[in-house]
Amino acid sequence: MEDNREIPAVIILAAGKGTRMNSAIPKVLHKLRGKPLLNHLLKTLSGLSAARVMVVTGSGAAEVEESLRQIPDNRNVRTVRQEPQSGTGHAVAQCLPLLEDIEGSVLVLSGDTPGVRTSTLLNLDRERTLSGAGVSLLVGNLENPRGYGRILREPDGKIVGIREQKDLEGDQDRIREVNLGVYSFDASFLRREIPRLDDGNAQKEYYLTDLVGAAARAGVKVVSFPSEDSHEAKGINTLSELADMEAKMNANNIQRLMDSGVRIVDPDNTWIDDSVSIEPDAVIHPMTFLRGTTRIGSGTVIEPGAVVTDSVIGRNARILPYCVISGSEVGDGASVGPFSHMRPGSRLGPSTKIGNFVETKKVTVGEGSKVSHLTYIGDAEIGEKVNIGAGCVTCNYDGFAKYRTVIQDGVFVGSGTMIVAPVTLGKGSLVAAGSTITRDVAPDALAVARARQSEKEGWAARRRENLSGNGKKDKS
Ligand code: UD1
Ligand code: CA
Repeated sequence: MEDNREIPAVIILAAGKGTRMNSAIPKVLHKLRGKPLLNHLLKTLSGLSAARVMVVTGSGAAEVEESLRQIPDNRNVRTVRQEPQSGTGHAVAQCLPLLEDIEGSVLVLSGDTPGVRTSTLLNLDRERTLSGAGVSLLVGNLENPRGYGRILREPDGKIVGIREQKDLEGDQDRIREVNLGVYSFDASFLRREIPRLDDGNAQKEYYLTDLVGAAARAGVKVVSFPSEDSHEAKGINTLSELADMEAKMNANNIQRLMDSGVRIVDPDNTWIDDSVSIEPDAVIHPMTFLRGTTRIGSGTVIEPGAVVTDSVIGRNARILPYCVISGSEVGDGASVGPFSHMRPGSRLGPSTKIGNFVETKKVTVGEGSKVSHLTYIGDAEIGEKVNIGAGCVTCNYDGFAKYRTVIQDGVFVGSGTMIVAPVTLGKGSLVAAGSTITRDVAPDALAVARARQSEKEGWAARRRENLSGNGKKDKS
């Protein structure tokens, strides 16, 4: 069902110290799937229409605020400082001045629950508005509820409070129903109850969760909304929980790809960003990382150990083991590697071959051309059916500026050739091995640019004789 109600206000709590991370990086800036935790929440919010978004900052505030400024389309995001960080209730209290004119829903999210889905937020909020409750909270049933606030219910099921881990009494630690830290509040309820919170608890903090008990006591309705996938709203408090979330999100994406017909040989050891698209019948071998805007065509095989970022690999191509490919294009039927490094701006045409230990940068390689071994080509334009031998270098930089090399169709470059740019090798020309090319080569010509070989007849034999004759070292 399409749900395009406008949510009047959203608060993201992101001021906490993240003590349990044991890290100098503010918790919400730790990266998950390549981007800060906070960005995940803002992405989720971009799927609904929120009139005002407030991010509460405190620990590492300057860094967090700077990171927020980098997010495109952040116009309706405001930051609110919380100093000192005296708890989640205290954090929301800092937003009260910005809530004065708000009527209706205020969603409160934790900066450390990056997996929560847009649909979950909308459903949670609908649950509250339809039932006329003052609060609705997202709950989960966890195998291991340790660390979470537990939901306290009366025998008839009515929610009467939330008890934090450190304040549990008796056998409350056996309660597996937990608060996932995502709420929809009625704005007027928040305005009335937030100022009444106290810090009479184990952590001497103002707990947002105490609002649930307060509502129950004041006869304000509290409803819970169960998360469909309790993993989605898991809080990240430690680096180990971050790793679990990363693995879970990756596994979900890999599952989706396999369901669509992509062969993934070892799902546990393959890392693919959600933004990558892969056609059916591509084969992805283990220890491979596919990132960013990468696209891969059908029939292509990515052998082990590839790191492919923001690149387009065509159909029926083959990436041999241990290649690093960034910002590049590989044509249909092309073959790259093993051990090749394609840097940004490399564009390989169809049926081309880039062999082992080859580095490319800002280069186009025409159909059927081969650069097979130990070579650097950069700032170059290579035509069709060109063959570049082993150990060649386009010398594109003189310490001041970069220059282009043009190698036209059908050229054969012998091994060990230095091509000093700017220079053009004309169509069909041939360059002798070991040349240092500094001037243009005419089409169909042979260029030899190396010192002529000289020989001293019998020199080696005489040397051997001298050494064996007097047993001394030869000084010649
Ligand atoms: C909180 C809930 C707990 C719930 C869990 C779900 C409270 C008191 N407890 O516990 O019931 O099960 O989340 O993940 O709310 N923050 C601030 N300012 C502060 C303190 C925290 O902005 O002064 C922010 C943190 O940056 C974090 C979020 O609030 O993003 C939650 O704080 P955290 O300390 O992680 O709470 P939990 O102990 O996980
Ligand atoms: Ca937490």
